[in-house]
Amino acid sequence: MKIAVIGCGYVGLVTAACLADFGHTVTGVDHDSSKIALLKQGTSPIYEKDLTPLIRVNTQRRRLFFQTSLDHGVDDAEVVFIAVGTPALDNGAADTAQVMTVAAELAKYIKDYKVIVNKSTVPIGAAKQVRKVIRDHLEAEVEFDVVSNPEFLREGRAVKDFQEPDRVVIGTDSPRAQKVMSRVYAALIKKGIPYIQTNLETAETVKYASNAFLATKIAFINEMANLCETVGADIRTVARSMGLDHRIGLQFLNAGPGYGGSCFPKDTKALAQIGRASGVPLTIVETVITANEEQKARMVRKIKGMVGALQGKTLGILGLAFKPDTDDLRESPALTIIDNLLAAGAIIRVYDPQAMAEAKKIFKETLVYCTDPYNTAEGAEALVIITDWEAFKSLDFIRLRKVMASPVLIDLRNLYTPAEVEQYGFKYENVGRAGYGDRNLPDLHKSG
Ligand code: UGA
Repeated sequence: MKIAVIGCGYVGLVTAACLADFGHTVTGVDHDSSKIALLKQGTSPIYEKDLTPLIRVNTQRRRLFFQTSLDHGVDDAEVVFIAVGTPALDNGAADTAQVMTVAAELAKYIKDYKVIVNKSTVPIGAAKQVRKVIRDHLEAEVEFDVVSNPEFLREGRAVKDFQEPDRVVIGTDSPRAQKVMSRVYAALIKKGIPYIQTNLETAETVKYASNAFLATKIAFINEMANLCETVGADIRTVARSMGLDHRIGLQFLNAGPGYGGSCFPKDTKALAQIGRASGVPLTIVETVITANEEQKARMVRKIKGMVGALQGKTLGILGLAFKPDTDDLRESPALTIIDNLLAAGAIIRVYDPQAMAEAKKIFKETLVYCTDPYNTAEGAEALVIITDWEAFKSLDFIRLRKVMASPVLIDLRNLYTPAEVEQYGFKYENVGRAGYGDRNLPDLHKSG
């Protein structure tokens, strides 16, 4: 099939490359000419595992093309995906301006029947608005249909998530469009991936409901972790024992500094706004948003509790990205935590395996940028792990202790157990295991 994907951001690019890999002929369109120039050379403008080889191979096979203008690609295409940004407005709602602009622009290239697929996360009801905008801008009497096909890609494993999804959801009121879409996803249907055909509003709601539920799971386990700290329980055992109940499931029960990223914070706020606008109170979602903010604030209090007054103290921060395997800092808990530590007068040394360039854009000269965990720890009163990068799971504590001003590890991702860290004479704090920071620790001078 000939397919166009408008918007070569995160979602658009993964969609274009994976559809080309299914065997379709795909044109990726983006008005950012520097991005298109990179893509034409086979270089991905974003850091995403497995994406670059997929772009290269399918470009070489002449199944994947990139261009800056909508013509040709869209003219020829049977299916056009819209995958442009829907940033948050001040009231939390998703801004559909870019989606509607693209809809108006592409309308003039619709000369024969086409299926327009919305992949961007949009307010419930937006697909119908896309249909109206296209209809208003058509230059000829041609038939077209609009489909909502929400994406469930996770950064860092987006290619795999596209190729082996838990489900595909196709929302449209048109049986003709459903048929076309089942050809687009034939490769997945053949593999037996659950394939859900429904109406537009249901598909749009699935996206928000899924993300809000996952955010709720995280906020819930974080609250349980906070309780564990006070009552003397261990959150890791609580989470695992809960998760082994199949109705609950083991995933997304890792307590930490709060969720971040470009999706959960934005989508929970947008869903809460939809609830308010519809007169349907979504009290759980509203509370999850507040609880997540409070979790970040609690992490700052935790650090202050371990280090004392921060004025003039040096702290080492390991991990800035909102999660591992990405350079994405959007809504990362690290941003809020660092802002608060800086405001309290701390000197912050940072290291992240991928996100240093992004961090420099935001924090400029207010931070000390380091080259590895050991360089970060130099002269630090405490080392704080914020992101659960694989590289931070096997730190050399003997080496760390030698360079730190005082051996304190604040592990906001529970990468270690207290025993593992304390045997090296470290004072250890974490999320959801009671009072380890206050335990009697071996005398550092005696243990060498
Ligand atoms: C999320 C969803 O997982 C995807 O299914 C969805 O398609 C995507 O949003 C989207 O709407 O585009 P993503 O934002 O890439 O994906 O990241 P996740 O892996 O879901 O992590 C989100 C945040 O939750 C991270 O800050 C992570 O550290 C945190 N988290 C996750 C926890 O604190 N604990 C956990 O147990 C799991």
